[in-house]
Amino acid sequence: MAKIGLDFGTTYSFASFLNGDSVQPLVPHECRLGIPSLYFKEPAGGFSVGMVAEHRGKSRPDMLARSPKQRLGNERIVLSSGESVPTREVIGEIVSHALKCAQVRLKRDYPDALEDLQVVVSYPVSFGNNRKAIIADAVKNAVLSGGRHPELLGMLPEPVAAAIEYFGMAPDPGKNILICDLGGGTYDLALVRSVSSGKPPYEVLSQAGIRLGGDDWDLALAALIEEKLVEKYGSIPLRLTAKILQEANFAKIWLSDSMTAQVSLEHGDDIFDIEISRWDFEDCTSGLLGDLVEATLDFKEENLEKKLAIDKVVLVGGGCKMPMVAKAIDGMFPDIDRRLYNPETAVSFGAARYAVALEPGGEVFQISIQEEERRLITLLSTHTIGIRYYVGRTNTLKVKPIIKKGSRLPASGVVESSTVGKTSFNEFFVYETTADEDETGWVDLDKCKLVKKARFEYGREVPEGTVTRDELRLGLDSLLEICVEDPVTKAKVEESVLMHREVAD
Ligand SMILES: Nc1ncnc2c1ncn2[C@@H]1O[C@H](COP(=O)(O)OP(=O)(O)OP(=O)(O)O)[C@@H](O)[C@H]1O
Ligand SMILES: [Mg+2]
Repeated sequence: MAKIGLDFGTTYSFASFLNGDSVQPLVPHECRLGIPSLYFKEPAGGFSVGMVAEHRGKSRPDMLARSPKQRLGNERIVLSSGESVPTREVIGEIVSHALKCAQVRLKRDYPDALEDLQVVVSYPVSFGNNRKAIIADAVKNAVLSGGRHPELLGMLPEPVAAAIEYFGMAPDPGKNILICDLGGGTYDLALVRSVSSGKPPYEVLSQAGIRLGGDDWDLALAALIEEKLVEKYGSIPLRLTAKILQEANFAKIWLSDSMTAQVSLEHGDDIFDIEISRWDFEDCTSGLLGDLVEATLDFKEENLEKKLAIDKVVLVGGGCKMPMVAKAIDGMFPDIDRRLYNPETAVSFGAARYAVALEPGGEVFQISIQEEERRLITLLSTHTIGIRYYVGRTNTLKVKPIIKKGSRLPASGVVESSTVGKTSFNEFFVYETTADEDETGWVDLDKCKLVKKARFEYGREVPEGTVTRDELRLGLDSLLEICVEDPVTKAKVEESVLMHREVAD
């Protein structure tokens, strides 16, 4: 089995693997930034993904499903043509394609590597179990050459993966590094310490994430471009609207290296062109930068309160290439060493290192440590997971925390209750929340999101007052398992939340 890391990104997906001491990309040579996370619905039927989708989308941008990772909470993705495609299918095809490309490169460049894949995939800090489960499913169900499926080895937060890659290249024993990852769809932060030798285990001291990314900068700039075009030409053809977004993305990237960018759109024999200055761009996106600054300052404060020092700031993610972002971060951490580090590959490379390190005795796993510390990183649950009950005389529905936010993973919790009346099944509702419990130990239902409606049939009636025992387990791979015991035979039934699709995060 070849152990590989996969960063399924909003804009680009990147796979890689650790070959000896160095991590190697497993993307086609032409895809330096990664494989475009794009899906194109072919007008004549069928679909294309990756580079082909990007190419096809140039002439028909209205048939492109862009940034599908941002739509994981929706059943379907609506294209600007008005048609729609099932989200899971889009994600599945993109992930499958990225893994197939990885397999091809592995076979070509590293003939000694085994063809079957074991995958560690990363996810944004802000993703709850539902969205993580969709990514996990996409990896597990990917069809590789020979019709086989990869094995999902584990999952880890994107900025933590970037920290592992950073420490892999620049061991900094005892140092706390702050990773700021501005991608296409999310802004993720993590403070990670290299505990002793600069090698694993690492300790994840804190992490946070918001939904903010390069896509938002594209949208803001597209609105400005449209406004300027209308100002200059009076009106613009409707068909140009989808193309404006592509031009905005191009101009945004151009403006990272230049003070002005030309925008030129063709429609029939007409050419519509304008110039955008970096000042225009930074002005129309200042609110987005404000959100980034606010999230970063909150994170900085939170760590200061916990007396956790920040020794170095490491920027990753394509969005951090915008001069305005680097400048704002420098302003917030004036005396701290800051560097931009492999913005496109750090997350995937870290996931690849983690994949190998997960195996005791693997290359990176060199420290003999006690069982409790046999983890390379300490992960904390970002959400509280609990079960819904009717509470008090008013019979109000509230959620009882079972695994609390901040618990070290893997974590588990048990609920014992007794059946009301005769029954032949055990049914309960699992919720997740980031809200704190009240002084009586409950969380209001409206602050929680439903994760799973679970129903277990006993196959016969059990009498009233039978004690039932349900266990929730949240693993290091961040997937939730529900374990229910038959109250009489003590047989255990397990179910995971992976297949649940009804509820969006
Ligand atoms: N030189 C550049 N200047 C400005 N923005 C850039 C530059 N290069 C890439 N980007 C932007 O960076 C974003 C992609 O970054 P990255 O590949 O890190 O995201 P991702 O991993 O796909 O997304 P996420 O991590 O949010 O899921 C896009 O919005 C892209 O337009
Ligand atoms: Mg990313």
